[in-house]
Amino acid sequence: MKVPLSSLVRENIRKMEKYASARDDFSGPARIFLDANENAFGSPSDHTLNRYPDPLQKQLRKRIADYKQLEDPETVFLGNGSDEAIDLLMRAFCVPGTDKLMIMSPTYGMYSVCAHINDVRILDVPLKKDFSLDTEGVIETAQKEKPKLIFICSPNNPSGNVYAPGDIEKILNATDSLVMIDEAYIDFSEARSWIGRINEFPNLVVIQTFSKAWGMAGVRLGMAFSNKELVSVLNKIKYPYNINDVTARIVLETLRSPGRKEEMVRKIKEERRYLMETMIGIPLVKEVFPSEANFFLARFEDPDRVYRYLSGEGIIVRNRSGQLHCEGCLRITVGTHEENTLLCEALNHYREREDA
Ligand SMILES: Cc1ncc(COP(=O)(O)O)c(C=O)c1O
Repeated sequence: MKVPLSSLVRENIRKMEKYASARDDFSGPARIFLDANENAFGSPSDHTLNRYPDPLQKQLRKRIADYKQLEDPETVFLGNGSDEAIDLLMRAFCVPGTDKLMIMSPTYGMYSVCAHINDVRILDVPLKKDFSLDTEGVIETAQKEKPKLIFICSPNNPSGNVYAPGDIEKILNATDSLVMIDEAYIDFSEARSWIGRINEFPNLVVIQTFSKAWGMAGVRLGMAFSNKELVSVLNKIKYPYNINDVTARIVLETLRSPGRKEEMVRKIKEERRYLMETMIGIPLVKEVFPSEANFFLARFEDPDRVYRYLSGEGIIVRNRSGQLHCEGCLRITVGTHEENTLLCEALNHYREREDA
């Protein structure tokens, strides 16, 4: 990137003063907190929750930085799910009604939803039919249209594939846009994370989440990793207490035993192999797409009917057949062995049960 980051930030955001929360003005030891209109008597809950959480989540960011082997916790942003980071990136950099961002269809739907909410024009440079990046198309469009942000999802949702690092590197080098690589599913993949390269590319932001491999979608914790300057812009515009104390405590506790997450990832990958191999053998299934995520696409002759049939059997999958290059496809999340077996059994009995 040849332009300073500050020139990409919206002018109103660059100029504004951030909300100073009660504890911001103060540092050092204190005995009595009468500054934030909290309830000093405690809360009716069994947990201590009467105090506001740390707005900058220092302890949690330090712990996550250590876990990710990043030297500086200030290169870590924490959001209420990674969706918050996606939205904040748009709000920080894209002037509504004026600026553009780029996506590559088919991909995660929230990029477009957030773009619509923020009135940011979407430039879509679709993936090729085999779901690989149209690298030349992306670079050409980025150089011509100068989008503020380029969203690259790898492994991609819904196709499950990882993009070639060389292609992403070409894009990073060829553009002044901020390039966001969404690695929500990276733990299920053999590919290396881009986190280790945030110091190399000033226009790189990497997003990860506790919702997938960590199995903690309920706590709503997402992460963005980038240079300190960009992280401080996101921290400036987020809601002051976006990460609640319950989430912070549970995640701090969980980070003490990452081995359990590794074990679950190993099992999910094993189940992914089992489910894909079994489904390939089911006559109803026309094609199963390779995947480096905890889901995969499977193609059917009549996906709407199969989708309705599975719902009737109490099995919910995602119908992606309306998306580009996904004709006939249902997206299937890898479940437990029992769930996967029941899915295959239902698919095997489609003809007789559907007619019944
Ligand atoms: C590619 C991708 N990014 C981000 C998210 C959002 O994750 P979170 O739960 O952290 O908001 C999802 C959720 O499905 C996703 O598929």
